[in-house]
Amino acid sequence: MQVIDADIVIVGAGGAGLRAAIAVAEADPSLHIALLSKVYPMRSHTCAAEGGAAGVVKANDSLEYHFNDTVSGGDWLTDQDAVDLFVNEITKELIQMEHWGCPWSREGSGHVAVRPFGGMKIMRTWYAADKTGFHMLHTLFQTSLKYPSIKRFDEYYTSDLIVDDGACHGCTAIEMRTGEMKLFRGKSVIVCTGGAGRIFPFTTNGAIKTGDGMAMAYRAGVPLKDMEFVQYHPTGLPGSGILLTEGCRGEGGYLLNKDNYRYLQDYDLGPATPTPVLKSMELGPRDRLSQAFWQESKKGNTVQGKWGDIVWLDMRHLGEKLINERLPLVRDLSISYVAADPVTDLVPVRPVVHYMMGGIHTDINAATPIAGLYSAGECACVSINGANRLGSNSLGELLVFGARAGRFAVEHAKTVKAPRDALVTAQAADAEGRIKALFKRSGGKQRVSQLKREMNLSLEEGCGIYRDEKSLRDTVAVIADVRARYRDVTLEDKSSVYNTDLYQTLELGAMIECAETVVHSALLRTESRGAHQRLDHVERDDVNFLKHSMAYYNPNGDPRIDYHEVVITKSQPAARVYGAAAGGQAA
Ligand code: FUM
Repeated sequence: MQVIDADIVIVGAGGAGLRAAIAVAEADPSLHIALLSKVYPMRSHTCAAEGGAAGVVKANDSLEYHFNDTVSGGDWLTDQDAVDLFVNEITKELIQMEHWGCPWSREGSGHVAVRPFGGMKIMRTWYAADKTGFHMLHTLFQTSLKYPSIKRFDEYYTSDLIVDDGACHGCTAIEMRTGEMKLFRGKSVIVCTGGAGRIFPFTTNGAIKTGDGMAMAYRAGVPLKDMEFVQYHPTGLPGSGILLTEGCRGEGGYLLNKDNYRYLQDYDLGPATPTPVLKSMELGPRDRLSQAFWQESKKGNTVQGKWGDIVWLDMRHLGEKLINERLPLVRDLSISYVAADPVTDLVPVRPVVHYMMGGIHTDINAATPIAGLYSAGECACVSINGANRLGSNSLGELLVFGARAGRFAVEHAKTVKAPRDALVTAQAADAEGRIKALFKRSGGKQRVSQLKREMNLSLEEGCGIYRDEKSLRDTVAVIADVRARYRDVTLEDKSSVYNTDLYQTLELGAMIECAETVVHSALLRTESRGAHQRLDHVERDDVNFLKHSMAYYNPNGDPRIDYHEVVITKSQPAARVYGAAAGGQAA
């Protein structure tokens, strides 16, 4: 097997991976960086982010307000030391992006513009029209090109981490163009592979978001933290699941039910007409808005569409000029995918799986419990999002913690002991052996597409916006069955060049592992908090569940679920209120 030596190996070349690579290159230009990605970097899912990145920049705002919005938005399951660090660092990162060429939208005065976003009581979301992720990814990618120490390995599927004596020393990855497996040896490894939204059937997530990195770290012994917290975004396009940014509501769009009624006024999320200190009800947090949709649907107030229940997003009053200037992609997508022009028509929308609050357990330095293994971006859980992420905190998160992962990986690389060569070689051979065995399997009746569909539907049905014990137990049973049958999947394509059958099979394996952690963590959390709403346990229970769930891999059965303390510094848990109950407080 070919061996490729680097100092730092980075898996994933979306926003977090690129930011980490740049941080390493800047910290020590003599270090060799191997940057692996299963897609060409500009195809990473960061590209699909639309609405913006939050960071305090205006005089009426403060770090304390951003901190409080984030901690209460996360229903106090956030680690407050991480949130503090995040709100302090993010604006510097956004200015750095500006210096690297990110075209932030501006005010007439030339100052950076900000827009309101859900759950944020002050406008602080920087944006580049409604293509913020695209522009950020471009900025990071083009900046990365100027560092000769970053060597890219595009279209490499990373299969396993190499771990010896509690420390990570590299990974194995398949070059998709040839089918050859290679061993990447490194002193530190950073996993930045994005989330696992594709375990659900209806998602804003691109097809590549299959939880590969989460599953790889999990199998290597790192717990997956808070996996039961899965975010539904309130406004996805029916059918495709394509995102219509929260920016639509930030710019003043309304949500209407079948009677053209702004139903959110019944859910105490804010006034119909915003006040200087209270945003409109459409700018409530995502978990509450998605739950309100579910309630409306139970009351029979949604519209039966070709792709299930929908409500209407009304942007007609915003006018063509504003829509073209600030929401041009939304206009294009609505016309192309649902034949509705927001300038003249109501646009059908429904909640859609968008983001996983949980992920690879890290500390505030992006370090996992395995020495030399770091993680950042959606695949990681540094715990700034708690039980419900506020929109526009994740683009910031990938910058702040991507950069930190890079810097701390460099520190680690200076101290690292060489691994035992024989053990590294044996682990790489094992990884290759498993792939070869997959090719040799024959006669199996199970199909990846069928198993994936069963997993998808059961998660949506049993572990969606609302769950209860029965629905979760049913889903546990379906996932266990899917896992058992997965062992019998046979590759139909035995070729080595761009074998999509192979990669989809490996991706399904990763998704099953992630799905197990989601549903088992959800089953044991007998309370309702943020995005985890139990119909049979409707109250938040701080006595028993103000703690992170930690799912540990068990090769012989269900994941083992343990718990980890939440870091509380200056904000004691309180009732999470937004509308009139918030009493008009700014933050
Ligand atoms: O609605 C949006 O533009 C999504 C933003 C986010 O998830 O942060």
